[in-house]
Amino acid sequence: MTATVRVGIVGARFAARFHLQGLRRVYGVSVEIAGVTSKTAEARDAFAREFGVPAFATFHDLCEAVDVVDLCSPPSSHEELAIEALKHGKHVIVEKPFTGYYGDGSAGFRGDTFSKEAMLKEAMASCARIQAAAKAGGKRVCYAENWVYAPAIQKEREMLTKSGGQILWMIGEESHSGSHSPYYGIWKFSGGGSLVGKGCHPMSAALYLKRAEGEARDGRAIRPASVSARTHAITRMKSYRDEGFLRTGYQDIEDYAQIHATFSDGMIADIFSSELVLGGVHNWLEVIANNHRTRCNLNPIDALETFNPKEELFKDVYVTEKLGTKQGWSHPAPDEDWQHGYPQEFQDFMESIAADREPLSGIALAQDTMAVLYAGYLSAERGGAEVAVPGA
Ligand SMILES: NC(=O)c1ccc[n+]([C@@H]2O[C@H](COP(=O)([O-])OP(=O)(O)OC[C@H]3O[C@@H](n4cnc5c(N)ncnc54)[C@H](O)[C@@H]3O)[C@@H](O)[C@H]2O)c1
Repeated sequence: MTATVRVGIVGARFAARFHLQGLRRVYGVSVEIAGVTSKTAEARDAFAREFGVPAFATFHDLCEAVDVVDLCSPPSSHEELAIEALKHGKHVIVEKPFTGYYGDGSAGFRGDTFSKEAMLKEAMASCARIQAAAKAGGKRVCYAENWVYAPAIQKEREMLTKSGGQILWMIGEESHSGSHSPYYGIWKFSGGGSLVGKGCHPMSAALYLKRAEGEARDGRAIRPASVSARTHAITRMKSYRDEGFLRTGYQDIEDYAQIHATFSDGMIADIFSSELVLGGVHNWLEVIANNHRTRCNLNPIDALETFNPKEELFKDVYVTEKLGTKQGWSHPAPDEDWQHGYPQEFQDFMESIAADREPLSGIALAQDTMAVLYAGYLSAERGGAEVAVPGA
């Protein structure tokens, strides 16, 4: 395919911005940002003006004008919009979490008390519906898991596969002081809390590396087998003393999660995620293999170490995501999008669509991630008991 790939962005806030910027950095494939749509006219018009792209009043209108629909809308909208786009014969890019369970439609639905067995079953059914629509239409599903593309993770993949290593244990985290999105914190929009919203990133990277290890060795991906997890709602506890530094007010989600996964070869991963951590995003994955050990630092990294004596001096300087203060010592990100893997992600997605091949982060990884995380909720409901991962 040599023609221009026309991409339409759905959603006009945080994720939409870095998607557009990532798409604009793609080289070697001709890409046109055909336009944007979102729920409110005000947000989509402001986005369209800022970036000089057309605004579409409806999802349907946008769909008609593009080859690829890029979903940067809240998690609860992903399944419906992805299936509609696939039925229109369009490829889709789906942000994390890929899909999930968003309630039974009842006014009194609360995610924290609803049956997790039912949620796991429904989340897997949702994945299967998206997969069936993609298969029926013969279109690609790109799972926007940027950690797969982060240079630190890709370098580890190279060292692992070229050295013939076996991963014994991985430990990692994504945490910060709380998501900005008004949809986050309400299960019927976000499909869960820290476990699906943040834990998805290091977990997908861990799943990706174990897949790559198996595929390099004998052509067969090593898949997740079981999980044990705990979740907590720390900032909703009566005993929590709020000093005003963390976001609070979550309705029915957890703000702390830990999940222990086993793989089909018996090896393990431990992933932490929370909304409780000050000092900027804390994104890392340590890989302990039988022949090497690597700390993949996504953020912060120490390419720059800066001492700023006065907050005011850096008022127009971007330092790192969710840092809180720019005074004192900090590690300004020279190119945060690059270290998070965003431009590399869109490069691969556009190349995979142009060349009609699977992206590095596709539907198989998305499904395994969903299976692990929702099995994690079931385990947490059972006090941390081991739960088999569906499809293992
Ligand atoms: N990969 C990452 O690092 C990363 C970071 C942040 C967010 N995300 C993901 O990106 C997605 C969007 O997150 P965000 O932070 O930009 O959220 P946001 O709340 O900042 O923006 C959501 C946008 O979607 C629009 N919207 C809501 N419902 C819609 C619908 N039914 N149809 C069309 N538009 C609709 C809203 O008007 C808004 O413009 C989520 O899935 C989130 O988990 C990923």
